[in-house]
Amino acid sequence: MQLKSADDLARMRDAGRIVRTVLDEVAAAAVAGVSTAELDRLAEARTRALGAVPAFKGYLGYPASVCISVNDEVVHGIPSESRILRDGDLVGLDFGAILGGFHGDAAETVLVGQGSPEAERLLAATREALDAGVAAALPGGRVGDIGAAVQRSAEARGFSVVREFVGHGIGRKLHEPPQVPNFGEPGTGAWMRPGLVLAIEPMVNAGLPGVRTLGDGWTAVTEDGRLSAHFEHTVAITETGPEILTRSGI
Ligand code: MF3
Ligand code: CO
Repeated sequence: MQLKSADDLARMRDAGRIVRTVLDEVAAAAVAGVSTAELDRLAEARTRALGAVPAFKGYLGYPASVCISVNDEVVHGIPSESRILRDGDLVGLDFGAILGGFHGDAAETVLVGQGSPEAERLLAATREALDAGVAAALPGGRVGDIGAAVQRSAEARGFSVVREFVGHGIGRKLHEPPQVPNFGEPGTGAWMRPGLVLAIEPMVNAGLPGVRTLGDGWTAVTEDGRLSAHFEHTVAITETGPEILTRSGI
């Protein structure tokens, strides 16, 4: 595991601020009638205007700057001209950027117009699951504390956590050790020390936890066709607790 220096963390704060800025702008633009390809163009243009580089485009061959995953899509949805957002859609937006050699990574899920009661509840529960995971990102703790907190939070609300995709360490690379599952037992896994930076990213399903990947090789969907939501923050472990590098208002 790569522990970050004070200098590295300063640069990761800058990267995180850009990720938050762009993600907020994309979320605000996710309205009925807009194509997901338009949102992707907005993200890339704004990222480059801010002097940063989109982190996902070209990563392992991924073709876009934002992952946009609608309704039963869990993660890694590919933006498309033909995917037009409609009232009631539950839209996951996952975005990463590189600035000064360091990565930031965050995700939000938003509703287009009025959502179903289930979509509203899933959205709130997934946000709360992320908050619970962040609160467990404490120096002297173990990475399993995060997964256990996320899982307990989501399942208490009657939802399930996805097993196939996990959070990750982040820094000079998008994906660094350790993996950060959204399930598991407290007191297990890697120790968390000040300077460790993690991307914590619960994916929560309304129904069963199973997912499968579509023929495009990227888009993960729920096996049962029910809704899924995704939230993510880049979080630094500090002496005094978690510092969210991709929070709003920074
Ligand atoms: N937030 C996701 C992750 O950390 C997004 C990666 S999409 C990819 O895995 F295209 F970059 F792979
Ligand atoms: Co991530």
